[in-house]
Amino acid sequence: MDKNKEQLEQKIQSSLLGGGQKRIDRQHEKGKLTARERIQYLLDPGSFEEYDRFVTHRNGDFGMADQKIVGDGVVTGMGTIDGRMVYVFAQDFTVFGGTLSETNAQKICKIMDRALQNRAPLIGLNDSGGARIQEGVASLGGYADIFYRNVQCSGVIPQLSAVMGPCAGGAVYSPAMTDFIFMVEGSSYMFVTGPNVVKTVTNEEVTPEELGGARTHATKSGVAHRTAPTDADCLDDIRTLLSYLPQHNQAAPAVLPYDTEEEVRPALDETVPDNPNTPYDMHEVITELVDPDSFFASQPDFGQSLITGFARLAGMSIGVVANQPMNLAGVLDVDSATKGGRFVRFCDCFNIPLLVLEDVPGFLPGTEQEWNGIISNGAKLLYAFCEATVPRITVITRKAYGGAYCVMNSRHIGADYNYAWPSAQIAVMGAKGAAEIIFRKEISKSDDPEEAMAQKEAEYNELFANPYKAAELGFIDDIILPSQTRRTLIRAFRSLREKRKTRPERNHGNIPL
Ligand code: COA
Repeated sequence: MDKNKEQLEQKIQSSLLGGGQKRIDRQHEKGKLTARERIQYLLDPGSFEEYDRFVTHRNGDFGMADQKIVGDGVVTGMGTIDGRMVYVFAQDFTVFGGTLSETNAQKICKIMDRALQNRAPLIGLNDSGGARIQEGVASLGGYADIFYRNVQCSGVIPQLSAVMGPCAGGAVYSPAMTDFIFMVEGSSYMFVTGPNVVKTVTNEEVTPEELGGARTHATKSGVAHRTAPTDADCLDDIRTLLSYLPQHNQAAPAVLPYDTEEEVRPALDETVPDNPNTPYDMHEVITELVDPDSFFASQPDFGQSLITGFARLAGMSIGVVANQPMNLAGVLDVDSATKGGRFVRFCDCFNIPLLVLEDVPGFLPGTEQEWNGIISNGAKLLYAFCEATVPRITVITRKAYGGAYCVMNSRHIGADYNYAWPSAQIAVMGAKGAAEIIFRKEISKSDDPEEAMAQKEAEYNELFANPYKAAELGFIDDIILPSQTRRTLIRAFRSLREKRKTRPERNHGNIPL
């Protein structure tokens, strides 16, 4: 028995060493944790149960038969985060550069199947040189097996990806099809084709960091939802995000204990400036409305005219979608609409109620926007709201103009409650633009066009630059004081806890892509 125990112990020790101490040291020199260290950090202490630690590859080409490392470059298993079960895989860069072999892919697929069957979130920690070149198509097949499972899991269990090293070529498409991508600044990059190929094909000179580093994907492409300065911070972020999510699509997110406190927020009565063209920071509104320190932004550096993120309201998990008057006056553009659409759908997949804070002057005009498809990209956000069945509440803080009024979770597209602050202006457009169009002839014929213009603008303002017309029509459920909003929202969201809404039977809708 002792001999058997010894043998097992030896094999376990060898698997723990991965590609060996030298390569582990090299990983540390780059400021990166190893796959096992990442898992240890991510999961509750002592909770990790590893599977397939003795797996080796089956490739005999290119001298690979003599190079077998137990575990084969990926650590897989299950464990808990704050006591909740999760499945996790971590690519081990010390073993053949964390590359994907046929057997390595089988290990990942096994835990994906278990996560789906047992309805628990799946977390992938990516750090890999891509397809294992020595294996050719067997490795590519492995990717396709993973992609297929990503899609089967989509909308059933949360899938979270961290990119903590290279992730290139076809490898990018697994994280891309998951719900959330975290990247580590300075040590991770993602691209479909690397700088060398880019140089050959387009003659552009670009560094890996510029092409696909964390900053690039957080600001330019929107591929990354959050970035963090270190591996540890990135893993902390994953734990935090998970706290807002349920285990699967038929469960509700946890409600944290919350004792009713003083819910009036007098500071909000002073937030919206008198001049409708003066910006204010919507983050301040969010901070006042949600539970202290509970806001967790998604894509904070991309499409910044729209804020998206998770928060808690009296302990309930909610998704916040808010126009940001500080950025482009809060307009919807290609990036912000795409970002919003994806966020709304994520919340709707996982039973996270939506709070919309609206101050939107419309869509951003211009050839760049039109030629980049503001029509179909704007439609993504509209479509996402229209199809969402989770509880949905809108508060119009100031402008709700034109088509953007309809898009931003209006009553007409299925919002449950729509509130407006007394500062709200719900109209087809701003008073100046409206007066110029509908009173053009009258103004031009006037002896004093400037005075006539001012008069017509005031007339339009009087009629529409307020929330009362919309309230008369029943499009707004109530006009509330900013200071009372938190109280109202808590009651409203609580009343919607048992909301049930079904969709017509169909394969799936056809969201504009
Ligand atoms: N297939 C097989 N082995 C690979 C590999 C791949 N795709 N990518 C990396 N490796 C191996 C390297 O041979 C090296 O092995 P060693 O430790 O035995 O020397 C190890 O992984 C680490 O790679 P290395 O190049 O030393 O690390 P690096 O940090 O300097 O560079 C990459 C990392 C990913 C940029 C670089 O390895 C690379 O460009 N790999 C090829 C990427 C690719 O084209 N993949 C296929 C398309 S999907």
